[in-house]
Amino acid sequence: MSNTPVKVAVTGAAGAICYNLLFRIAAGELLGPEQPVELRLLEITPALKALEGVVMELDDCAFPLLSKVEIGDDANTVFDGVNLAMLVGARPRSKGMERSDLLEANGAIFTVQGRALNDHAADDVKVLVTGNPANTNALIAMSNAPDIPNRRFNALTRLDHNRAVAQLAQKTGVSVNAISQMTIWGNHSATQYPDVFHALVDGRPAAEVVDDQDWVENDFLPTVQKRGAAIIDARGASSAASAANATIEHMRDWVRGTPANDWVSMSVPSDGSYGIAEGVITSYPCTVTDGEYSIVEGLEIDAFSREKIDASVAELNSEREAVHGMGLLG
Ligand code: NAD
Ligand code: LMR
Repeated sequence: MSNTPVKVAVTGAAGAICYNLLFRIAAGELLGPEQPVELRLLEITPALKALEGVVMELDDCAFPLLSKVEIGDDANTVFDGVNLAMLVGARPRSKGMERSDLLEANGAIFTVQGRALNDHAADDVKVLVTGNPANTNALIAMSNAPDIPNRRFNALTRLDHNRAVAQLAQKTGVSVNAISQMTIWGNHSATQYPDVFHALVDGRPAAEVVDDQDWVENDFLPTVQKRGAAIIDARGASSAASAANATIEHMRDWVRGTPANDWVSMSVPSDGSYGIAEGVITSYPCTVTDGEYSIVEGLEIDAFSREKIDASVAELNSEREAVHGMGLLG
């Protein structure tokens, strides 16, 4: 870390997630208490006035680490020289929609932003997509940014990971700190596969501690898979504070590293690991050292898990086909 501010781009900056995200970044929760940050905030033109209000509030916090805030509606200008890009801006789903229903509404956003990152971001840029459908939007951005290495494009499944950790901790009556090695495989969608079979509770295999396959299959899995919809149903709006928290945690760990003896779930470009062919951005167990992630290799996948992973990857492949058909892949 240095005294030179890290330039952090955030899109959808006047939206609900960002109202939780920006203040935490400016307070040092992303890059630590020594690292100044410059915020580059992108919005669509009609939302710029609201964004000015958010910037007034950022000013009014007098955050010592916040060196500068720039706002705009042109990705080419806002992304100039950015080191980190958090692509949140996109329409959320409403009641009754699946996240994939947003492909048409949101996909095009990520062609423009992928190209702008390609042409203007710093050489070390890392890009994290939160806007839904996050995995396929990340694929669109990646494919429109041929000069940026593919592995610099991630999508957010950390919220699902955190949801799974919380459910398992509640079931086993331990604190969330006692849960490790949780994995989300696949898509940030209802087909995702939250895998307890490699997770540990106080260092013991979770499946052994839980000892209740019915709970795993008929309670844990659907609860985590459908949590986003349950929140929309209860709140009348999609998750915002928890999504902001997960977005910070994913990027923080990608930059600053994962804890020893644990891993996190990150959606990254498939590289053939676990028999998932290249071509999609899918969730894997990952560790991070020196700003580079590695997929945790060598986990045993039983027939139950295999079927679930394959179903989610099949959905990702069909989303890829759909956006290919819409001409969104570069
Ligand atoms: P919101 O509607 O409150 O805010 C979205 C903002 O994005 C709006 O201010 C809008 O003007 C802006 N925007 C739209 N198009 C843009 C563009 N081209 N460039 C820049 N900004 C643009 O929505 P929200 O609740 O903040 O959610 C944002 C997205 O995050 C949604 O797609 C939602 O489904 C998704 N989400 C993902 C996860 C996840 O875990 N991956 C979790 C929660 C929400
Ligand atoms: C979530 O998981 O909460 C978000 O992706 C919002 C949604 O549409 O479910």
